[in-house]
Amino acid sequence: MAPRARPLVLPNIEALRPYVPGKPVEELERELGISGAIKLASNENAAGSSPRALAALAHLPPLAEYPDGSCFHLRRALAAHVGVTPEEVFTGGGSNEIIDLLVRTFCAPGDDEVLAYQPSFVCYELAPKAHGCRLVQVPLDERSYAYDPEALLSAVTPRTRILFLSNPNNPTGSWMSRAALEHLASKLPPDVILCVDEAYCEFASDRAYPDACELRPLREHMVVLRTFSKVYGLAALRCGYGIMSPRLVNYLDRVRLPFNVSVPAQVAAMAALQDGEHVRRSAFVNAEGLAQVEAGLDRLGIKHFPTQANFVFVDLERDGRLVYEALLRKGVITRPIGGPRHMRITIGTREQNDRLLGALGEVLGRP
Ligand SMILES: Cc1ncc(COP(=O)(O)O)c(C=O)c1O
Repeated sequence: MAPRARPLVLPNIEALRPYVPGKPVEELERELGISGAIKLASNENAAGSSPRALAALAHLPPLAEYPDGSCFHLRRALAAHVGVTPEEVFTGGGSNEIIDLLVRTFCAPGDDEVLAYQPSFVCYELAPKAHGCRLVQVPLDERSYAYDPEALLSAVTPRTRILFLSNPNNPTGSWMSRAALEHLASKLPPDVILCVDEAYCEFASDRAYPDACELRPLREHMVVLRTFSKVYGLAALRCGYGIMSPRLVNYLDRVRLPFNVSVPAQVAAMAALQDGEHVRRSAFVNAEGLAQVEAGLDRLGIKHFPTQANFVFVDLERDGRLVYEALLRKGVITRPIGGPRHMRITIGTREQNDRLLGALGEVLGRP
């Protein structure tokens, strides 16, 4: 048979590498033959899952039946929770799925551009690269990692279709104030979809931190993403949502696969929304843990950056990968990410934070 000229995949797919998540505890324990490892690598909730969600999962409907593909009840509950109509709510299998759907729905492969800060959440990179459109990254200032809306605005071109803004930013913790976000939302050309990803919003405590939903009147094409993976502690179930105009919801509904949110995810998410007590406790545990970790980093002389999330970004001023590997050998999993000397550390329980700080001190020779 004559060789076929067409390669199996397009060059953009050939160039991709599989996403490597934070190392699972079980994997590290197996590799090192140890037990009792801890993971502070994936921004999971130190306070665990919403008890109400866990209780609801004990009474699932028959699993032989498909979920309600329209998420009717969950969307109504979310609408009431946020103060919008159900037609303005889109639910996905994690907010990751919604990021991917936004790119596939609103960007044409080729010259269409997706704009994001660098470093920022990895899915803002993966989705356009997999879809074959252009990714335009605006570097954050390496001394402060502070957000500057003007830098984003000056990178907008007539081909910009979506601007992804993680507020606060994963992995740096940077965040945009209400005034700056208002400026961005009003100056961005109206045909660009401004997607404000508020995965960590419930942990934010600064009074100037904005609720992006309140800025929706400023522009038609705006998406606010939130997730059940963080403050509700349900990362394993994969459920996230976006608030946007009914028109955008309608387009995403055409592209999403049927039954994209599982029955356990819908049931647990509905219950979690009623669990205000867990949200408050999670924010409290995080605030205490963050103060503990920041004080410990100061004692160790490790540079860290302001954060409004459940993680902190550090500049180790040496090869971050080596520090990461040395911590692994002590049974502590962190995430070397965002730069060659850098690391993102998720806030854990008091005991986990103590263990991390002790291990960091030993690795850096600063006990
Ligand atoms: C900024 C940001 N957005 C979205 C997500 C993804 O959340 P989900 O678990 O809902 O897909 C994460 C997870 O780490 C994140 O950091």
